[in-house]
Amino acid sequence: MTDTSAPLYEVRNISKSYGSVIALDNASLAVRAGEVVGLVGDNGAGKSTLVKALAGAHRPDSGQIFLDGIERHWASPHEALQAGVETLYQESSLAPHLSVSANVFLGREIVSPGLLGKLGFLAQKKMDAEAHADLERVGIAVPASNRPVSQLSGGQRQAVAIGRTVSWARKVIILDEPTNHLGARQSKEVLQVIRAAKAKGLGVIFISHTLPHILEVTDRIVVLRLGKIVKDAPTSDFDVDTLLGTITGLLV
Ligand SMILES: Nc1ncnc2c1ncn2[C@@H]1O[C@H](COP(=O)(O)OP(=O)(O)OP(=O)(O)O)[C@@H](O)[C@H]1O
Ligand SMILES: [Mg+2]
Repeated sequence: MTDTSAPLYEVRNISKSYGSVIALDNASLAVRAGEVVGLVGDNGAGKSTLVKALAGAHRPDSGQIFLDGIERHWASPHEALQAGVETLYQESSLAPHLSVSANVFLGREIVSPGLLGKLGFLAQKKMDAEAHADLERVGIAVPASNRPVSQLSGGQRQAVAIGRTVSWARKVIILDEPTNHLGARQSKEVLQVIRAAKAKGLGVIFISHTLPHILEVTDRIVVLRLGKIVKDAPTSDFDVDTLLGTITGLLV
């Protein structure tokens, strides 16, 4: 890990309120290329709110966002996508009536106009094969890509959503509780996918309540409590007990 390198993606002093609820209070976070940052905190700590700001899904009330050192003002999630920032939201948005492959390509025509032109001439079978290859390449085992997503198990759907996110990412991947609904084996696969993304030089922000997963795969851990960052330190500084104590506020 290169601690001294400039951040790839960074938010500074982000605040966001929903009415009288202060979801984020002056939160700052940075991820470098080839680094996995774990973002942890209790239910309601503000993790998904921070994710939505990073993804361009909502505008923070104040604060700044920098990609490659350049300040950005995302007007929409598509702007962030186009700039190379891929997000898997906590409530992942697959279209259940569409096939696995249609979901893998969903929305891409807006992001990359070249692809739409290309796809127009591709037979459905070719698209299924490409989607399958994309998912296999990132280490996600899914059933036939021509099956509708509504026929998949919760874990298989989650796998498709993760595969789609990782296969398209160019700079940064944000995964909001990606191992939700997954069994032990599939969770291990997701951790492997995160390691592969890191090895490719992507910056990864990984959110989970499963602290052993966080400790296993991250380089650095950022702890949110009631909308405030209360700790940002190398993973080697923590074990399950100190991490839990920091999250709950019994420590620090
Ligand atoms: N759309 C919304 N409208 C009003 N309040 C919201 C909205 N979204 C989130 N909040 C509030 O903002 C705070 C932070 O929520 P957020 O979803 O960011 O938490 P989280 O850390 O992701 O929690 P979890 O671990 O349960 O996913 C909570 O108090 C929540 O109730
Ligand atoms: Mg959340």
